[in-house]
Amino acid sequence: MGPLFLVSNLLVLLGYIRCALLGLDYGQEFSKAMLVSPHAPLELVLTSDSKRKDVSGLALKSYKESVERVFGSGVDSAQVKTPNGALLHVKSLLGKKIDDQFNAYHKAHPGVKFVATERDSVALKSLGQLYPVEEVLGMNLDETIGRANSMLVKEKSILDKVDSVAITVPEYFSQDQRLALISGAQLAQNNIKTVLVNDGLTVAINFALKQRSDFSAGEEKHFMFYDMGSGSTRASLVSIKQSANLSQPLMVELCGYGFDAGLGGSLLTQNVAELLEIKFLEQNPTIRTQVLENDARALVRIRQAAEKAKLILSANADASVNIESLHNDIDFKTTVTRLEFEQFSEDLDTRVIAPVLKALDTQFSDSPISFADIDSLILTGGATRTPLVQKQLSEYFGEDLIAKNVNADESSVEGATIRGIQLFKSFHTKALDVIDRSVFTYSAVFNETEGPREVFGKGCQYPNATSYLTIPVRNISDFSIDLQEDGKIFKTHAVDTGPIVSKFQQDACPHGVTYNVTFSLSQDRLFDIASVEAICIQNSNNAAGVFKKLFSGFEIGQDGVNSEETESSKTVDKIKKLKTVEEFPRLRPINARESVALRKHIEELNSRDTKRFRVQELINVLESDLYDARNYLEEENITLNGPSEEVDMLTTLVSEYLEWLDYEADDASPEELSKRIETVKNLKSKITLYINSADEPLDLNQFSQMYTNGTELIEKLKGNRVMENETLEALRESFDLIDLDVTKEFKKIRTPRHLSSPTNKMRDVLEGMESTLAEVRKIENLASFDEVSREKLFELKLKFDSSYHDLNKWVEFEQSTQKFKVNELVSLHARRQRVIKKREERKSLSSSATVGGSNTTTSDDQQSATTSTQLEHDEL
Ligand SMILES: *[C@@H]1O[C@H](CO)[C@@H](O)[C@H](O)[C@H]1NC(C)=O
Ligand SMILES: *[C@@H]1O[C@H](CO)[C@@H](O)[C@H](O)[C@H]1NC(C)=O
Ligand SMILES: *[C@@H]1O[C@H](CO)[C@@H](O)[C@H](O)[C@H]1NC(C)=O
Ligand SMILES: *[C@@H]1O[C@H](CO)[C@@H](O)[C@H](O)[C@H]1NC(C)=O
Ligand SMILES: *[C@@H]1O[C@H](CO)[C@@H](O)[C@H](O)[C@H]1NC(C)=O
Ligand SMILES: *[C@@H]1O[C@H](CO)[C@@H](O)[C@H](O)[C@H]1NC(C)=O
Ligand SMILES: *[C@@H]1O[C@H](CO)[C@@H](O)[C@H](O)[C@H]1NC(C)=O
Ligand SMILES: *[C@@H]1O[C@H](CO)[C@@H](O)[C@H](O)[C@H]1NC(C)=O
Ligand SMILES: *[C@@H]1O[C@H](CO)[C@@H](O)[C@H](O)[C@H]1NC(C)=O
Repeated sequence: MGPLFLVSNLLVLLGYIRCALLGLDYGQEFSKAMLVSPHAPLELVLTSDSKRKDVSGLALKSYKESVERVFGSGVDSAQVKTPNGALLHVKSLLGKKIDDQFNAYHKAHPGVKFVATERDSVALKSLGQLYPVEEVLGMNLDETIGRANSMLVKEKSILDKVDSVAITVPEYFSQDQRLALISGAQLAQNNIKTVLVNDGLTVAINFALKQRSDFSAGEEKHFMFYDMGSGSTRASLVSIKQSANLSQPLMVELCGYGFDAGLGGSLLTQNVAELLEIKFLEQNPTIRTQVLENDARALVRIRQAAEKAKLILSANADASVNIESLHNDIDFKTTVTRLEFEQFSEDLDTRVIAPVLKALDTQFSDSPISFADIDSLILTGGATRTPLVQKQLSEYFGEDLIAKNVNADESSVEGATIRGIQLFKSFHTKALDVIDRSVFTYSAVFNETEGPREVFGKGCQYPNATSYLTIPVRNISDFSIDLQEDGKIFKTHAVDTGPIVSKFQQDACPHGVTYNVTFSLSQDRLFDIASVEAICIQNSNNAAGVFKKLFSGFEIGQDGVNSEETESSKTVDKIKKLKTVEEFPRLRPINARESVALRKHIEELNSRDTKRFRVQELINVLESDLYDARNYLEEENITLNGPSEEVDMLTTLVSEYLEWLDYEADDASPEELSKRIETVKNLKSKITLYINSADEPLDLNQFSQMYTNGTELIEKLKGNRVMENETLEALRESFDLIDLDVTKEFKKIRTPRHLSSPTNKMRDVLEGMESTLAEVRKIENLASFDEVSREKLFELKLKFDSSYHDLNKWVEFEQSTQKFKVNELVSLHARRQRVIKKREERKSLSSSATVGGSNTTTSDDQQSATTSTQLEHDEL
């Protein structure tokens, strides 16, 4: 049973939910997205040109006074044109400070400039504007979500919209990196829900679901997942266990981990690029290295050629490279061999193996898995296709151990999506038990004095939460807590102790006040403080109660606890939620204000792009219409029988507009383009109509019929008005009897929505008809009617048809409206009458009723009166 089947089955349970989830395998250079919704089970989101993987990032080009954004496969050529416009591959820049090391990044992205944000994080400076790396991720994801949503529209689940995203994260990402990843992703849409999924486990989860039938009851197997992407390499030692009870879910557990944050496809490409550079400089000894290094465009082209050559070298012994006019108009032509590449990359040999050794070495369990117990080493991630990587691994670990049967490209995005479904609780069944363990240690420093206390150790399962009590203090003063990840402080909470002093009076807590600090390690593996309580210790009895039960980490101070005394924790006085002020000594994440501003900027760019697309679309429409028109004008029946005036006009227009398209259209507004499209269309349809009117008599008889028909229609309109008046007058008396003014009530009734009024104004339409009729009359009366040209007559005939059509719409509209309103009046009358009757009945019950006969009569009379008006009205 594959996961597709599994998921589509489970999703049925939630058919009512109007939401969709996106799984995002967010890689350094490439990303993949998968969509799942109640109506679209697990589908890969293709790029706009139907590729399965998308470029991570985008490129900017100058466009008029502003910029144009390019996503997907257009990025390469845009990057060559504007190296500085590349907003690419920011994953490794997330959560970094501007003064961190970025050599590898700069080598791979010539011409890209970094600038510090106000938080000292990295922003790319491109075409005069700053783009914080989070914003780049946000734009990227925003575009992906847009494509996913249009997939949903195509699949007729229009009401579903992507509202949550599960994003892969390398287990080694620090708190800063995680926070940056989350805040960047949240810029993609307002109120989007995000969850981070450990990318070592995504592949394992996908693998486990696909292999589940291979596991017998009680069986446990160990696998080393070796994932080399473009930016980094991760080795995850995973155990997959089938419970003895087969109806229990499969268990996937992370047991060990190793990584190299800089080893990946990008580095291999860089090696090929450096080889190419060397060869180019050898071929052109007059060019100084420094000069080439300053030619960003040339370096981008070398890098892109290196990427292609690297792929060729995966299957071939050599690859030829040919770059026209690379630098100073010099063409570059060379060949790289796999041998050269591998020799050049020799220093990577040990780095390739190291993560696996590290994962074996740093296991979380007390009874570590030995190398011999590993079932297979599973290769995933695009860069594991490189022969030198495979060679190293199989030489070191043995060919037999290496399994390449996992779809290296899509297992991660599929696993992330499945895990996302599970974490967002999009369905209820427990398909899998996933045990994720922290690869870092989390500790806290209280009050900057005591050494760090380990809160969640390495190998700790998460999500998790735990509470600690501090040593009681008698004098309340400042209290702060530093949070550390693997010994590095990333966040400080300064506790607001003010409420303690005001709540606990002097001497109220003779044994001091202790702080109950609750720490959490979230699903996203964010370490933080969930709450801080102040507990007033009134006597040693309750101190005993508190400590006996809950003191979990620290040595108890001088206020020794007599554990034999009875518990009385109920009397403990507490302040539940103390406020804290957060500080980020290293890197502050984006705050709400910045987030709103960045989101606004993304939306601005979106709407500018939308407008640009619209203009481009209209230009294409106009262009094709013009070519159509040109061909049309060449048709024989047009040249022979067409109305010469219009034909000439259209001929002129076509050549004029085609020229305009060549030179000015890019600056045109959508409105202007639409107007031109319309003009061409109208002129063309006029000609067609004329040709089609070959059978129209266009004689005196027809024109006099037109006059009659038009006049009759106007009369009909006026007749409507009179009829309305008469109907109201007929109803007036019966309405007077129930104390209502029929005219007022009529006016109060609103036109129902299903009767929408014609778009043209009534007065204009009527005047249009009147003037058309005047023209008709004039022509009809001409002594020289026979000499009037057919074009002119036909034009008038068209004008008449259109006036007639428009006016007729109004006549029909008014009739239906009237009919509706009169019906409403009649039922209003009936309702009102019933009310009066009931009232009178009640009155007659209390007094002695005598007026019986008269109510019946009136009612009957009115009933027939209204029925007859209704009939009359229907006859209209
Ligand atoms: C097996 O697991 C199922 C589902 O959790 C449970 O209902 C059943 O009692 C278990 N059977 C045994 C023999 O433990
Ligand atoms: C924190 O340190 C200050 C002095 O640095 C001390 O007065 C205070 O009692 C300490 N608080 C706690 C909770 O240890
Ligand atoms: C949660 O954290 C506490 C404190 O570190 C630890 O003792 C406990 O084992 C953790 N729970 C799990 C399930 O790992
Ligand atoms: C507590 O504060 C009082 C008054 O501020 C001071 O006299 C006393 O020495 C302090 N006690 C301790 C243990 O710091
Ligand atoms: C400490 O706080 C946690 C979370 O609020 C709570 O569950 C726990 O009972 C508290 N401990 C004490 C001793 O009050
Ligand atoms: C022109 O003539 C061709 C061939 O007789 C015919 O197919 C076409 O529909 C005509 N076009 C118009 C606009 O009448
Ligand atoms: C006038 O109206 C009649 C009846 O509706 C219709 O048959 C005829 O075609 C109309 N004549 C013109 C010129 O519109
Ligand atoms: C109906 O016609 C009468 C007499 O022509 C006129 O006085 C009255 O204003 C008209 N009422 C409406 C509602 O048009
Ligand atoms: C008129 O009033 C009498 C009682 O006075 C009642 O029985 C009768 O139903 C009323 N007529 C109608 C049409 O409601």
